[in-house]
Amino acid sequence: MRKNIVAGNWKMNTTVPEGVQLAKEVCEAVSSAQGLKCDVIVGVPFTHLTAVRQVIDINKVGLAAQNCADHTSGAYTGEVSAAMVASTGANYVILGHSERRGYYNETPEMLKEKVDMALANGLKVIFCCGESLEERENGSFKEVIGGEIRDSLFHLTAEQMANIVIAYEPIWAIGTGKTATSDQAQEIHALIRGLLADKYGAQVADDTTILYGGSCKPSNAPELFAKPDIDGGLIGGASLKAADFMGIVTAF
Ligand code: PGA
Repeated sequence: MRKNIVAGNWKMNTTVPEGVQLAKEVCEAVSSAQGLKCDVIVGVPFTHLTAVRQVIDINKVGLAAQNCADHTSGAYTGEVSAAMVASTGANYVILGHSERRGYYNETPEMLKEKVDMALANGLKVIFCCGESLEERENGSFKEVIGGEIRDSLFHLTAEQMANIVIAYEPIWAIGTGKTATSDQAQEIHALIRGLLADKYGAQVADDTTILYGGSCKPSNAPELFAKPDIDGGLIGGASLKAADFMGIVTAF
């Protein structure tokens, strides 16, 4: 049976001391919460991984980087490899976020390499996909989302898919306050699960966690998470305050 997950994506926010404080608050709140129905992850800047790892209980709160390099090691100034991320004690990496695809020109081919690097180093991947407003309006969105998944994930084996979480994040809903309706999100989550079923069979499709991201907050999370194919959320803005984040974690 697939897991429910609520993952924070802090993006480029917080200094190291601020991030350590936020992570401590999240870990304390998760530790004292009764009967949580989801796993909780914080996705922090590279600079924060080691320090945050020291103040969380990794069995209660997972730790994600927000990117990793598409090469193993060597002369790639400024890059951080999957092995480096894993060596901090992090257990997840977020890959393919639309901000990385859009601002840093990450291509499906690069993401395929990054996925392979992450899995080879024992990291689980939160793989993001989603359409722009233009693609939503011109009707190409289903093809766009299917392409993103096929091009960067469908070289994996069924066994490897057990370490992949997919996050559907419509770009027009990210940081805009404009959430996809729960029906719009459910439609795409079911489509993604259908693609997985066609490629890998019903078992893999059933076992894959598919998160929704885009202006998810405590007020709309219960309705989104009630949908059969929405298994949690990837949370940006609302993950920067422990109380808001916990309001989403407890939405199941
Ligand atoms: P948001 O971001 O919750 O601030 O819309 C979500 C994301 O980009 O992962």
